[in-house]
Amino acid sequence: MTHILPGAPWLIAHRSMLGVNQPHKVTLNGQDYALWQNDRGEIFALNNVCPHMQAPLSNGWICKERDTITCPFHALEFDGEGKLHREGKRDTQPFAQPLKLTVIGDCIWTYDDCKPRTGIPDIVKQIASEYDFVGIAGDKTIQGDFLSTWLINSDFNHQNGTHRQLFQIVQNHMTEFVKDGYWYKVKQESTRANNSVRELLSNPVLFAIPKILKSTVEYFFPSVLILYAETGSGPFAQVVVQYPQQQNQTKIYELIFAKFKSAWIKPLLRQSMLKAIDVVVEQDSTAIETRYPYQPAKIRLPNEEVMMYAEKLYREW
Ligand code: FES
Ligand SMILES: [Fe+2]
Repeated sequence: MTHILPGAPWLIAHRSMLGVNQPHKVTLNGQDYALWQNDRGEIFALNNVCPHMQAPLSNGWICKERDTITCPFHALEFDGEGKLHREGKRDTQPFAQPLKLTVIGDCIWTYDDCKPRTGIPDIVKQIASEYDFVGIAGDKTIQGDFLSTWLINSDFNHQNGTHRQLFQIVQNHMTEFVKDGYWYKVKQESTRANNSVRELLSNPVLFAIPKILKSTVEYFFPSVLILYAETGSGPFAQVVVQYPQQQNQTKIYELIFAKFKSAWIKPLLRQSMLKAIDVVVEQDSTAIETRYPYQPAKIRLPNEEVMMYAEKLYREW
């Protein structure tokens, strides 16, 4: 496939998703890669297609001593540069194609071997230094194109329908929209109806969400967007990561950070928080995956200028 948004920095994984000495498959712009992390925290990525007879390297295993990945088919071993290890010797030429990575803290970025067009946003590193990392949530492949997936997170009306059952948002009011190139920011106030006792019990994180929720969403097109909110349990930052896997498949996952008011809240709310995000992503993906083919909208709603701005960035990339 042709690259979607060539030159964009893609946050293809967070260290916590990799494990240690375990192959992890990533698909980016139609190409599969095998990623792995050794016990010193070094991370490697190779084209997943074995140069011998095209078996998927990510189904193989890691040799700790030599930092190699072994192909599951005939057990040929490749190091992180793609060089073959045979009978205790390392070939000089790479056979398997490495993918160039930039690892910043726990974040694994790549330009997918394209010429960089924008810088890697500093924001994730900054958040990681200020907040407590809660975990990964909403990790899934959406059967939808990159633009539709990005746009749903720039859509300040879909809470009313798509997320109605979880957050019971009855009104959403945008108070600010500022933009500067690939960066844009929106402030909003969302008014919630009361959750039923059943909903509260099944998802205790709802107790922490105030009746009028003030939040800010900051976008670093097209790599990440961050939702900041002040909740009853303390400030919260939700880093939404997206990258194109195929023309009609988009990877999404979220890095959840919080500053808990007291240490005992984290173990109490962690699962419930991550579960709520899973539900949100599931609801978004249902909205994307069940839509009929695109037609120009015949009705316009307020606040759609954010979506239009995002779409313009995509089309003019
Ligand atoms: S296909 Fe990989 S070693 Fe043969
Ligand atoms: Fe959503």
